[in-house]
Parts: sequence; structure tokens; C-alpha cells
Amino acid sequence: MLQKNSSGERVETASVAEVPTEITEKRLGLKILGDSFELLPNALIVRGKPNIEEYDEAFRRLSSIESAQSWWWGDLANARERHYGSLKEMAEKYGKDYGALANCQYVASRYEVSHRSETLGFKYYQITAPLEDRLEWLNKAKDNKWSATELAKQIRLSKILPPSFDSTLPTISHAEYRDWLPKQPDCDLLLTDPPYSTEVENLKGFAQDWLPPALAKVKPTGRAYIFIGAYPKELEAYLGINPGNMTLANVMVWEYRNTIGPASKLDYNLNWQAILYYRGPDAPELACPILTEQFAVQEVNAPDGRTGIRYNEWQKPDELAERLIRHSTSPGHLVLDCFAGTGTFLLAAAKFKRIAHGCDMSHEMVNIAAKRGCRVVKLQ
Ligand SMILES: C[S@@+](CC[C@H](N)C(=O)[O-])C[C@H]1O[C@@H](n2cnc3c(N)ncnc32)[C@H](O)[C@@H]1O
Repeated sequence: MLQKNSSGERVETASVAEVPTEITEKRLGLKILGDSFELLPNALIVRGKPNIEEYDEAFRRLSSIESAQSWWWGDLANARERHYGSLKEMAEKYGKDYGALANCQYVASRYEVSHRSETLGFKYYQITAPLEDRLEWLNKAKDNKWSATELAKQIRLSKILPPSFDSTLPTISHAEYRDWLPKQPDCDLLLTDPPYSTEVENLKGFAQDWLPPALAKVKPTGRAYIFIGAYPKELEAYLGINPGNMTLANVMVWEYRNTIGPASKLDYNLNWQAILYYRGPDAPELACPILTEQFAVQEVNAPDGRTGIRYNEWQKPDELAERLIRHSTSPGHLVLDCFAGTGTFLLAAAKFKRIAHGCDMSHEMVNIAAKRGCRVVKLQ
């Protein structure tokens, strides 16, 4: 990136950083990385076209600075790539993690030095980097003193919820999946969470009974996310099932860190569940612009009575449901859940203007779903 410095000179830049200004050259008056590189609190400026040995030395020296800022890495990688190519090769040569370096480089390339504020950490820039209106969002975060998590949440809501949002009530039927599924039209998304191995005697038989007909309900352009327990026998039962027309594209992980249980003795305590992610043959790209949501591991706290309402131990987090729905569907799409429980997935779908229908064989669950906002309908 070519930029003007304070004396009006055009220089190739770099980027910004969060804090530790005490080690910047500005303060120390040193050329820490060599004559061609200047470290600023939120940017690394590259002067002219340093030769490859100078870059090698700059990478080596930056690696030895423990608190080196993401902006510096990003700016250095951008300049080095512009002059000598291949970020991947660069990461290997300097022993840096390619993903982390690519992330710094991408974020740095999205913000001119003059747009980098010292009051917001790099994380804010990372969250907003893919957005057209990223500078407006940074200003809002500053004005409202949002945490980075709050900023991400506000962006999500604004992107998905139209201003005059009018929710279509999701429906739930008190019924068995066997009776309910055949009566449903083909859907854009099957998002469901069947009972765990602890609740079902013959898990393989059960999985074989419900999953193939449920997947057959998904349009060729659709997707399915199936939550299953992380016990080896559950994984084995489900991974052995033929998905028909669909592709089992990822075994995703829902990881939660807010679990408190008895101390582990013989085995480890589980703090994750698997999500089998299937894709139809004509599925379009995922709508997943937020970098931190693009990973197969999704870290979201489990519903917790201490910080929100937890209606039932099986309940899944709204946040996770909302993510998966945003990634895989558009307003007006049909979402089915044949093991709807407390209605988490149906309510999340309706919140984003998707049509949502589900069933559950438990009266108690259907009542909770109704209390949370689902409309109970008779199976016709
Ligand atoms: C793990 S829970 C789903 C929890 C739900 N995702 C939520 O957030 O509340 C599984 C649900 O499947 C229901 N269920 C079990 N066997 C069923 C069957 N044969 N037909 C329909 N529902 C069934 C159970 O009553 C239970 O509510």
C-alpha cells in the first residue's frame, strides 16, 4: 500500500497495532528492523524496495520481539509479498504459522495507517475487515464503547435482521419424527439435534431409521447440520450412514468452555459435541463473511442458567443456531427440525425470517417451545 507520511512523502506501508508503544522506534529512536523499516505504534512502514536479505533480517528481528503487534506482521508480510511473492513460502521460510500470518496480512491490507486507531485493538479490525462499511462500524464501536464481542454481535444483527423485522411464528407439532417427516415439503435446511446415545437403546438402528429419510427431504441446493454427542459409539453409528445424494462435508465441532462437572478421573470430561455438516450437490457458497465463524470448530458457551435462561439440559445455544442458519439459508427458506426440543433452532430460524417447522414427541418439550414463542400446530 502506498501512503503519505507526516512529511508528505509517499511510502509503502504497513499497519497498525493495539498497544505496547513503549517498544516502538518512536519511543526508542531505534531502527529495530533495519534501515528500510520503521515501526510506528500501529503500523510498519517500508521504505523503498529492501532486498531479500533485509526482509529476512526484519522477519528474524520481529520474531524476537515478544510483543510484536499483529499490524507489524501484517504490514511486513504485505510489503514482502508485493516485492517477492508467495506468502505461503514466506511463512515456511520464517517458521510462521501460515493462517495467522495470512490473517494479519489480510486485515492490514484493508486499513490505511490513517484509519488505525490506538483506542481499538486489532481484534476490532479483524472483525470488520471483510465489510464494505468497516470504518463506520469501527466508529460505532468507539462511540458506544462496545467490546469486540458486542461489535461482532451488532454487525450480525444488522446484516441479517431487516429494520422492519416481522417474525413469522415457527411451528412445532407434538409428534414422532416418523409420522411428521413424510408430511413435510422439501426443505432448504435440516437443522436438528436427535436424542443422545444415553436416551436410545439401539443407536445404530435409530440413526439408520431417521437420518436417511430426513436427509432425503433436503433440496439439492440445501444443507443439513446434525448435532450428535461426542461419544465414540455415537460417532461410529452416524458416520456409517449413507447420506444418499448429499455429501458429509465436515465433522464440525461445537466446543463449550463453561462446563463445570466432576473432576475427570479415568477419562477426560467432554466439552464438545459433533455437528455433522452435509451439503447438497447444488448448494451455493456458504454466506459466512465473518472470519471467526469460518472454522469447523465453533466455540460458543452452552446455555447457562447463571447468565441467561436455560429451559432444559438438552437446549442448544441460540448464538450457535443463529450462526448456522445465517451461513446456510436466506430469508424465506424452509428450515426443518424433527427433534425440536425446546424450539431453539426453530426460533432462531424465525428470527432471521426463515420459515421453520418442527416436531417433538415430548409434551414437556413442546410446552417449553410454546412458552418460548413457537406456535403449536396439530399434525394434519
Ligand atoms: C437433544 S434434544 C433436542 C434439544 C433441542 N435442540 C433444544 O435446543 O432444545 C432431542 C429431542 O428429541 C426428542 N425426541 C426423541 N425421540 C423422538 C422421536 N422419536 N420423535 C420426535 N422427537 C423425539 C426428545 O423429546 C428431545 O426433546
